[in-house]
Amino acid sequence: MRVLGIETSCDETAVAVFDTTRGLLSHRLHSQIALHQAYGGVVPELASRDHVRRLLPLVRGALSDAACLPESIDGVAYTAGPGLIGALLVGAGFARSLAYAWGKPAVGIHHLEGHLLAPLLEPEPPAFPFLALLVSGGHTQLVDVAAVGEYRILGQTLDDAAGEAFDKTAKMLGLPYPGGAALAQLAESGRSGRFSFPRPMLDRPGLDFSFSGLKTAALVALRGRVVDEEVRADVARGFQEAVVDTLAEKARRALVAGGHRRLVVAGGVGANARLRARLGEIARDAGAKGYFPRIECCTDNGAMIALAGALRLAAGQRQGLAVEARANWELGTGESTGD
Ligand code: KG4
Ligand code: ZN
Repeated sequence: MRVLGIETSCDETAVAVFDTTRGLLSHRLHSQIALHQAYGGVVPELASRDHVRRLLPLVRGALSDAACLPESIDGVAYTAGPGLIGALLVGAGFARSLAYAWGKPAVGIHHLEGHLLAPLLEPEPPAFPFLALLVSGGHTQLVDVAAVGEYRILGQTLDDAAGEAFDKTAKMLGLPYPGGAALAQLAESGRSGRFSFPRPMLDRPGLDFSFSGLKTAALVALRGRVVDEEVRADVARGFQEAVVDTLAEKARRALVAGGHRRLVVAGGVGANARLRARLGEIARDAGAKGYFPRIECCTDNGAMIALAGALRLAAGQRQGLAVEARANWELGTGESTGD
């Protein structure tokens, strides 16, 4: 089964060709960071228009990199939600039209399912079941992944996502959008312990998170002082430590409570080196194994959508012809039907 995957849920246009026997054959991505940077965040209308411009050349490129003709594609997978509705509609309309013209099935994929299954693209993939810490710009969840399509959310953020907290704090520190990776880099030159941030929700039972207070704490730390390079780095360090501590401790509790043998990190914040190192320690201490997808498979990409689509199509899942996209769509609810 060979599937073309298309991801357009936010500010990356990404396409890939995945083959269930031969693995990932090609992947291409166009990041819109430069387009949105002047605005300090994603401008939805600009995102949609840019997806329109980029999709066809990227698909041509991915097919050519994979040395495959449209005839050898068995289906088209696309991100059907959640995300920016205009951006999603561009990808969904494009993918369904292509599939229709090629006489092949199309399948709408939940963006978070893509993230959760991305570790399966690695040479040593985790077996099912596994515990996933899914940390992206829009979501922060601990998910029990029993099998493809069997996801149980054990806990999630009550307000800001971890990536959102990184991005907002980065903005306060004068770093360009999207600030997560830049903040992480700045934190490396900062001192630990100069600023101590709260570890939200750790004093409570349950596996939910709350990150909105951390950006306020960062604001308070910066207020009324000369914000030189040293202060910025120290705040970045303190902030990152608080986020990593909180995510890691909740992941540890979920791992122990569920008796899981495998811990997977997924989503853009999963690219964070400190978080990866800490989760590795936690898995080891709990007698489990940690799985860390390569960085480009943590952040948004087309490969994870192609893979999820291939698994669903190979399992016989078929959808109608309707172009379907949902801005809001909770994982594990209301399968995408296309009807
Ligand atoms: O999964 P993703 O690419 O897109 C969404 O589905 O949201 O995640 C993007 C998020 C952004 O908030 C970005 O700042 C954050 O992941 N991010 C990082 C790092 N790299 C990306 N956060 C912390 N440390 C990083 N190294
Ligand atoms: Zn994502």
